[in-house]
Amino acid sequence: MALSVVILAAGMSTRFKSERPKVLHDLEERPMIDYTLDLAARLALEPPVVVIGPEIEAEIQTWAGDRARYVLQRERLGTGHAVLQAAPVLRTTSEQVLVLYGDMPLLKEDTLLQLARLQAATDAAVAMLTVERDNPRGFGRILRRGGSGDILGIVEEAEATPEQRAIRELNVGIYVFEAGFLWDALPQIKPSARKGEYYLTDLVKMAVDARREVVSVSIDDPVEALGINTRADFAVAQAVMRQRVNEHWMLEGVTLVDAATTYIGPNVVIGPDTTIHPNTHLRGQTVIGAGCDIGPNAIIENCTLGDRCRVLASVLEDAVMEDDSDIGPFGHLRKGSRLCQGAHMGNFGEMKQSTLGPGSKMGHMSYLGDTETGANVNIGAGTITCNYDGERKHATVIEDGAFIGSDTMLVAPVRVGKGATTGAGAVVTRDVPPGTIVYGVPARAKSEPPSE
Ligand code: UD1
Ligand code: CA
Repeated sequence: MALSVVILAAGMSTRFKSERPKVLHDLEERPMIDYTLDLAARLALEPPVVVIGPEIEAEIQTWAGDRARYVLQRERLGTGHAVLQAAPVLRTTSEQVLVLYGDMPLLKEDTLLQLARLQAATDAAVAMLTVERDNPRGFGRILRRGGSGDILGIVEEAEATPEQRAIRELNVGIYVFEAGFLWDALPQIKPSARKGEYYLTDLVKMAVDARREVVSVSIDDPVEALGINTRADFAVAQAVMRQRVNEHWMLEGVTLVDAATTYIGPNVVIGPDTTIHPNTHLRGQTVIGAGCDIGPNAIIENCTLGDRCRVLASVLEDAVMEDDSDIGPFGHLRKGSRLCQGAHMGNFGEMKQSTLGPGSKMGHMSYLGDTETGANVNIGAGTITCNYDGERKHATVIEDGAFIGSDTMLVAPVRVGKGATTGAGAVVTRDVPPGTIVYGVPARAKSEPPSE
């Protein structure tokens, strides 16, 4: 049974108080409307039709491209009027029309599938989602025959009597319509008495009057129906999404010491028996192996970590840590950095576009930029690669087993040979041959006289 999807997103979003379109605000690394576009893509073959207002037209199209088709609603004359704008595109293409909102990102695919199947099975004119909430404010109330029988209609809060306002069964605003009924009935909706809007909800009574069936699926967890109107709603949605992600990883064998302060992005992957300590942020395309110990106070973005890695109070961006390596406290791996197997980077280290070789150690207050370090190298406290001459960046190579004395300045381009040693405070301006010792400013071998 062919189903097409209409996504309503032309509302003014005034309560969100933002210069940017509300539905393009990032919710856990994706614009809010992305969740709805994703649902649509999983439920329908054809791209959904998004109903948008003129203010956000360009931005949405730039962002979503051909994942959607677009129709403009120039005047906000209500949800019925909004869906009507999609008629020229969809009138003849499908048997079912699913109406979604661009600001309801917590809805689950299963719920919508259930709704679509119920409509198909009953051939109802309308299958709708309902929910019971303690606070019904802002929602349309469901009117049933004798209070609990067949659905008779929906009354909007603005138009409801005090008795109707007391009804706890609410309209989520998500429907699957039988397409023939929808496109025939939509143009016949009359403007509402109080607000003069064309209410999509009027279709329910119109179906009942036409002796067509109206069926409903009630959702168990009211949070699924959360519409994001304010930044407070936004924060609730964010918390719910985080909780869903955290629960997933706990069920996969990851220990979260304090889930409330653990922030795991939607695209992160974590191996079993890894422990995540409080106040840890894992973002972007980050992959963490098994048996790692991450945090407290770690920020890791777009990184790949092997097994048994340890990260304490450090910031890692676009970097790699191989098995059994460790960093922190207070380390910073910048873009293109790699800690090879068993490498150790301690307090106040910084690396950029550099590799610390297998088993190598950089314990205290050092900077490596554009540097290739071999195996079992010791980088003494305060070592700095002077990789930038004011115009260009230059490379440093430190070969296997070299010992870099404390406070060495390596003025790139420069190479320290295998097993070579630099004395404390050396300023190395020329390559150091393998196995030799250099010291002083500028650094020289013992056999060389000091240069004037
Ligand atoms: C609507 C329902 C209400 C339901 C509630 C659930 C109607 C008349 N009422 O009310 O029964 O309980 O949703 O959230 O449908 N929109 C447009 N163009 C418009 C008006 C709205 O595109 O002219 C879009 C909005 O961007 C939004 C959605 O439609 O995504 C719902 O609009 P909103 O104004 O929030 O409807 P409610 O008054 O909350
Ligand atoms: Ca709303």
